[in-house]
Amino acid sequence: MLDITIVAFAHHKGGTGKTTSCLNVAGYLQKDGKSVLVVDCDPQANATAGLGVNPETLELSMYDVFMSAFEGFPDVVINDIIVPTASGVDLAPATLDLVGVEPYLYGIEDRAGLLKEALARVRGNYDFILIDTPPSMGQFVINGLIAADHTVVTLDPGTFALRGMEALSTVFGDIREMLGEDVAADFAILTRWKGSGDRAAGTSGLALFLKRIFSPGPSVEEEKERERLKVFEAEVRRSFKQVFAVPYSPAIYETQQKGLPISHYAPESEAGREYRAITTALLALDEDHDEV
Ligand SMILES: Nc1ncnc2c1ncn2[C@@H]1O[C@H](COP(=O)(O)OP(=O)(O)OP(=O)(O)O)[C@@H](O)[C@H]1O
Ligand SMILES: [Mg+2]
Repeated sequence: MLDITIVAFAHHKGGTGKTTSCLNVAGYLQKDGKSVLVVDCDPQANATAGLGVNPETLELSMYDVFMSAFEGFPDVVINDIIVPTASGVDLAPATLDLVGVEPYLYGIEDRAGLLKEALARVRGNYDFILIDTPPSMGQFVINGLIAADHTVVTLDPGTFALRGMEALSTVFGDIREMLGEDVAADFAILTRWKGSGDRAAGTSGLALFLKRIFSPGPSVEEEKERERLKVFEAEVRRSFKQVFAVPYSPAIYETQQKGLPISHYAPESEAGREYRAITTALLALDEDHDEV
């Protein structure tokens, strides 16, 4: 068996932290000496930009890889489009024209397995392949979930409680039914998490203590929001094997501006430390998997 792990980052709602989580986990894996490929399957190309690559300068991208399945388009394989990035993470980049692929995909029967097939060509070159997916329920997400061994679901405080997760498990259920492929969400990451207040999600005990002493008591609105987050977090913990909470951190935005993962820019930030822990858990999961 080839010793490679493929992970998809997914949630159909926009802005829940898929790209941020994908890139930062990639960075820590790279720092651990793993060879890592990030596959940008989102026409927004945020993973591409986040690794310091300007999509507008690219001649080839995932668009070409998907389109080569169709007659009349050049034969481009994933190896042809991969570019190195400043952090040492390799990238299969996206460009805006990826948006034009989806209508074509609906015209072929084996559309859901195209990415898995494309990745087969580079399995031997990497320890990890991380797939960033767009905020939709479309073909790119399905291709990502089918190609992946593990799925990481990202949720932010604005995620509309359970409806968001129910919709995603419907996709998992459909995939199981359609293709007999088992898709399970191993990890949930709560991003930009301010915490429910009971637990120091990213806030050290002393910092929390000082904050409580020096700030006035929470307003009724804040109490309500805290209560809502507490219920939501408990529900998420019931639904996933492992749940992580990445605190809100300005370092996240800064790293994205620099085109580097947080591991390579601000590893000691609170968000950096949580992404470190997530990466360690992913590596452990992988070892368990290998032992079976
Ligand atoms: N822990 C954090 N602290 C501060 N800002 C964050 C954090 N995580 C994510 N963000 C910011 O939130 C925004 C959305 O994050 P991100 O782009 O990762 O979400 P996404 O799920 O990939 O979005 P989309 O659905 O559009 O692809 C970004 O501007 C990012 O910088
Ligand atoms: Mg994204």
